[in-house]
Amino acid sequence: MMDLFSFDQPSRLDIAEGAVLLVGRALVGEEALLAALDTVVAGAPFRHMVTPGGFTMSVAMTNCGRAGWVTDRRGYRYTAEDPETGQPWPEMPGAFAALAREAATEAGFPGFEPDACLINRYEPGAKMSLHQDKDERDFSKPIVSVSLGLPAIFQFGGLSRSDRPSKVPLQHGDVMVWGGPSRLAYHGILPLKEGQHPRLGRNRINLTFRKT
Ligand code: SIN
Ligand code: FE2
Repeated sequence: MMDLFSFDQPSRLDIAEGAVLLVGRALVGEEALLAALDTVVAGAPFRHMVTPGGFTMSVAMTNCGRAGWVTDRRGYRYTAEDPETGQPWPEMPGAFAALAREAATEAGFPGFEPDACLINRYEPGAKMSLHQDKDERDFSKPIVSVSLGLPAIFQFGGLSRSDRPSKVPLQHGDVMVWGGPSRLAYHGILPLKEGQHPRLGRNRINLTFRKT
């Protein structure tokens, strides 16, 4: 039931056990988040990485935090340095860490202190095939995933690749959290539709927070 006082109370949707969508949760600190994003990207520009199989990813990526997720012909891993510059990844902005911690707590996972933030940039047509986030050592911590810019359809499946995924529409400001029994759920993003976002233009930006 909607009530007159629910406007400042972002709604919350249970997607699966341990998987929660916090609708519009990132809108409160939107400007600080976008300013921090600009700073990170100035230090570590987006790049298209190559999979171990030799395919160039349609999503452009960068990272901030003590560890950054990378892929190349040698495989998937976390590195302390940006392989493009040999420099440490930019520090995780306070606004990023605070949002991740608060969203995790609201979703039922208190004490989340991410050390890695993978930043994905999708242009229309870009997609992320179904996969599990399993390059981390500690699966007791959740994944916190923030959507900015153009909308997308998130596929959220089960623990087996063949489990039929549900389709979750994600908008600017939405935050998905998955952990516990859903921590290793298969997930992905369907090819982005053409569009223009007032703040981010022809892009969708996703911030994925992890404890590696
Ligand atoms: C990912 O799984 O790394 C990206 C998810 C998203 O873009 O929402
Ligand atoms: Fe993922």
